[in-house]
Formats: sequence, C-alpha cells, structure tokens
Amino acid sequence: MPQAADCTPTKPSPDENAFQVNNTSDAYYNSPYYTMHKNQNQVQPIPQPRMGALPYLELSNFIPQGLLDSTNAAGRISFHAVGDTGAAKVSPRQTAATAIAQEAAVADAMVQDVQTGGDNGPSFFFHLGDVVYNFGEAQYYYDQFYEPYREYDRPIFAIPGNHDGMAYGSSSSAPQVPTLAAFLANFCSAAPGPSPDARSVMTQPAVYFTLDAPYVSIIGLYSNVLDTGGGIISSQGGHFPLVDDQLTFLTEELQRLKPERRVGKRAILIAVHHPPLSVDAKTGGSGGLMQDIDSCCNKAGLWPDSDALWPRPPLSALHTHC
Ligand SMILES: [Fe+2]
Repeated sequence: MPQAADCTPTKPSPDENAFQVNNTSDAYYNSPYYTMHKNQNQVQPIPQPRMGALPYLELSNFIPQGLLDSTNAAGRISFHAVGDTGAAKVSPRQTAATAIAQEAAVADAMVQDVQTGGDNGPSFFFHLGDVVYNFGEAQYYYDQFYEPYREYDRPIFAIPGNHDGMAYGSSSSAPQVPTLAAFLANFCSAAPGPSPDARSVMTQPAVYFTLDAPYVSIIGLYSNVLDTGGGIISSQGGHFPLVDDQLTFLTEELQRLKPERRVGKRAILIAVHHPPLSVDAKTGGSGGLMQDIDSCCNKAGLWPDSDALWPRPPLSALHTHC
C-alpha cells in the first residue's frame, strides 16, 4: 500500500456529482420476492466461512511497516468505525447529488484524518455495515463505496448490514441473486487483487470474523437482514432457520483473546450492525441478539471490554443501523 510522502494535507480530488448507474433500487423494492418476504421476519442464510481459513485476520499483514512501528512505539492505536455509509437517492425530495455530497463529506473528512495523521493517524476503517443501499447491489459498489473512499489510504474491513444482505427477485420463492453475493466478492475474497471497480478486494475469512490489531481486537458479527425487529445472529432456540455457528465463533474468539485481555495487552470490542440495546423509536434494540451475546460472554467468562467489571458490566459494542 502506498503511503503519503509526508503529512501535508492534500484535498481529495473532486467528488462525483452524479451516479454512474441509477442507484434507486426501484425494481428491487417492487420485485415479487421482496414484497412477499419483507414483512414476514424472514432471515437469509449466512454464508459459510471460507474453507480452511482462520477466523481472524492480523492487521499487521495489511498496513505498512512504518505505520505498524509507529503504532507500537506510541502504545496506542486509532481507527475509524463507521456504518450506514451507502449513498442512495432516498426520497423524492432528495436528489442523487445531495446523497452523494453527504456521503462524500464524511468520506473526505476520513481521508483528511489519514492524510494529516500520517503514521500517527487512523490505521484502518472497520465498516459497521450497510455499505451499499438498498440491496447491496454489485453494480452500485463503485458509486457508493469505491468512489467515495478512492483516496482512503488504509485497509477497509467490513461486516454486512441488513441492506447488504437484502434479496430481491422476479419470483416469490427464490432470490434472484444469493444474499451477500456482492459483499462476499468485495470483502471475503480468497486472495487480494483488484476489484471490478477500484481498490483491492479484502480477504476476510467470512462475513463474521475477528480483526486482531495492536492493542485491540474487534469481533465482527453478522446480524442478518431484518429492517425492523432487530438483529439476529442465531436460530434463537429454533425460532429462525439459521445455524448457530456465530455463537460458537463468538465464544471461541472470546476464549482465544482472554489471556491477552487478562494481562491488559489488548481491548476487545464486539461489532454488530443492529444495536443490541437501543431506545431509538425507529429501529429499537434486539433482545435476542443481546441475550445471545450475553450467553457467549458468560460461557467464555469474558466481557467486552472491561472484564475488570466481570461478571456483568454494560455491554461494549460498536453498532449502527438504518
Ligand atoms: Fe441497517
């Protein structure tokens, strides 16, 4: 990855002011599959992890040695954690140009953070989901992800949000494209290499995974596609047709990281798109999700982050949802 030659801030190149393709998702919202399934609390299957891949990534394999050395010397790390970045034309009153400008304002500020911070600035961006609105369409990745972050010179990891996994289709019984197909292509590739659109694809082992960075590990979970009704990471005792792999994954990752947390070597954060607990009137919390996370933490005997408060501190989690 190229590094900025110095810490002199440079203004990102001009943002696009029109989508390359129509980003409205109209055909998807009106499709038989979506209209049949949207109000039935129907979750989508969770793609299996890549065969043979470890469940965690090491940040040191993705950043320049100079940045790693500076981070270790400083004894601290900073990073971006942002979700719901996808831009789309969201109402008749909002033009595409407005949607693009709003996303670009945030993305450009993040680029400035990296450029001005240099080796003491943010080391990575952990995306909290809803990369592309409204159905995670592959053909919208350029407009909503690659173009806005074209000058973000740090690795970008991501967990999917509900919009990234939503499905549509011309029949009512099967989606036209498997859920998360574009997310898998862009973030869970078996090998690095150019995406169809711009920066290299990411090589996460699954849509749920852990990022091990100096001083912090982020355990990312995938909370499925429900818009209202909250996030779901398991079958919740058989209520949903899902395997319980993420419960095993979360418990085992907490156990793996426990020794280094116990000696104060790293903090542990859980990242999940839907809020486990929320008083927001629009989306609300996710009681089942919170119980699942609590159950895994109880089994592992470790709570994110400060297990000094064990056995029952408030949950520390990164989340976002729209
Ligand atoms: Fe969302």
